[in-house]
Amino acid sequence: MMKPKRIPAAEIEDILSSLKVICYRAGNQIKVAIDEPTNTIYKRFPLQRGSWYRRLFNPASRKFIRHAERVQALGFKSFNAKGWYRGDDAEHDLIVYPALSGHSIYDLAKKGSVKEVLPLLAAYIAKLHERCIYFKAGHCGNFLYSKEDGFSLIDTENMRFRMGWRRRAVAIEYLFAHTEKMNVRFLEEYTHERFLKDYFAAANLSTLAEKYIRARLRRFFSADHARTTKE
Ligand SMILES: Nc1ncnc2c1ncn2[C@@H]1O[C@H](COP(=O)(O)OP(=O)(O)OP(=O)(O)O)[C@@H](O)[C@H]1O
Ligand SMILES: [Mg+2]
Repeated sequence: MMKPKRIPAAEIEDILSSLKVICYRAGNQIKVAIDEPTNTIYKRFPLQRGSWYRRLFNPASRKFIRHAERVQALGFKSFNAKGWYRGDDAEHDLIVYPALSGHSIYDLAKKGSVKEVLPLLAAYIAKLHERCIYFKAGHCGNFLYSKEDGFSLIDTENMRFRMGWRRRAVAIEYLFAHTEKMNVRFLEEYTHERFLKDYFAAANLSTLAEKYIRARLRRFFSADHARTTKE
């Protein structure tokens, strides 16, 4: 496993502010930026408060790198970090990694080309679950898709490598609920029911497991119902 290289804290700011910003953290701090000529992403991780052990030996930045390696070993596309830097004030880490091909599911929805990708996404998530990957940040902004390369995973710091029925349901619930939070309607239009059918068709689960997962997600079906009866 690679180790963080110490650099002056001000250098992290200099690097990030010389690039094209993708998103900011609260307080206007640059969080993710891209170097377009080399197609390389730079992401800043504040070192968590909490125990010294967590802060210095198992921070989110380390999990981000490790999990991306681990999912690749399990057969899923993700990135290999090219660099890992730590500011000499031990406040922030900076991870450098290549941009992956494709667009997030939210971006595809904005472009109006998401409908044909949703059944593929449901099957992809079923495959993740079958390989015991619980992607806690698995919302539509963190799955990238391209026709040529299929799906890849970003934002890998929050993952667990054990799966059960409850986690399957929580993962799907999170994906559904996040679209509500983002105020987008493409899953509703496709219907949650159809997405779940796609998932179960690929998941190879017992009837009991399916019942359990459906019961946990029932509030989304009543939304489907309200919608289809209104039409
Ligand atoms: N490897 C990558 N390839 C292509 N685009 C990327 C890559 N990593 C990040 N991005 C782009 O940068 C955006 C932000 O990156 P990332 O998802 O890692 O952080 P975040 O969205 O701030 O975290 P969260 O999803 O928890 O809000 C992504 O939505 C995506 O558009
Ligand atoms: Mg993200």
